[in-house]
Amino acid sequence: MPNSIDHSGNDAPAILIFDSGVGGLTVFREVIAARPDARFVYVADDAGFPYGNQPPDALIERIVRVMGEAIAEHRPDLIVIACNTASTLALAELRKRYTVPFVGTVPAIKPACAQSKSKRIAVLGTKATVSLEYTRALIREFASGCDVVLVGSRSLASIAEHELSGMPVADADIAAEIAPCFVDTDGRKTDTVVLACTHYPLLTDRFRKLAPWPVDWIDPAPAIARRVADLLHERPAAAARTPPRIVFTSGRVPPAPLKAALARFGFSP
Ligand code: DGL
Repeated sequence: MPNSIDHSGNDAPAILIFDSGVGGLTVFREVIAARPDARFVYVADDAGFPYGNQPPDALIERIVRVMGEAIAEHRPDLIVIACNTASTLALAELRKRYTVPFVGTVPAIKPACAQSKSKRIAVLGTKATVSLEYTRALIREFASGCDVVLVGSRSLASIAEHELSGMPVADADIAAEIAPCFVDTDGRKTDTVVLACTHYPLLTDRFRKLAPWPVDWIDPAPAIARRVADLLHERPAAAARTPPRIVFTSGRVPPAPLKAALARFGFSP
């Protein structure tokens, strides 16, 4: 991987954003809005995508290895694991192995239950995230008095990757993936859906259009950005903005539509 965070004569904090693909861009856009002075490198482990359908042990090993290489290469001051699957699975191990501070992304079950009026919510994530004990513990701890349906999607993250790469996906395919979130029993309908995969906020407009009834879609990215800002404390005065860089572990050159999408997030071609 090329060295993407320029440390020469620059005191601005270096932030590494990590995801299995382009999903973490939904977190990156909030973090850069909160800390536009920081130097960013976004590492997409697309060589390992999709994380959500893989066996946990091999995936933990992979994430720890890729992160170790990224830390050695980019020497970040802070790392955002902008991936629910990686965070729920490997955050504890990463914190054990590396001293750099990590901010994780975990399903926003607590705020969703707090704001739900019908007290019926859905958690839409990868198969891995919804089946992990970490997620079930969040439900036990924060969802009392609220009915939670866990919906594991095998293909939504890939659908989001396709859409961003200029390969549109049919409405019916997306509608089928979100349908199990919508429960209407005992006179109570789902009114809140937790987007527990960072790829999914890339599809929120489609979700809104295809939902059988309106619900609130909870994206944890603004809360993650606030956490990053808290950890970095004071913003240095008048720091120059360094353009963000993106690295794909596959080494691929993004196709033109993806390049255009990345440019909209602030990455230069
Ligand atoms: N974006 C990731 C997440 O938040 C996972 C997508 C995947 O690699 O399956 O869970």
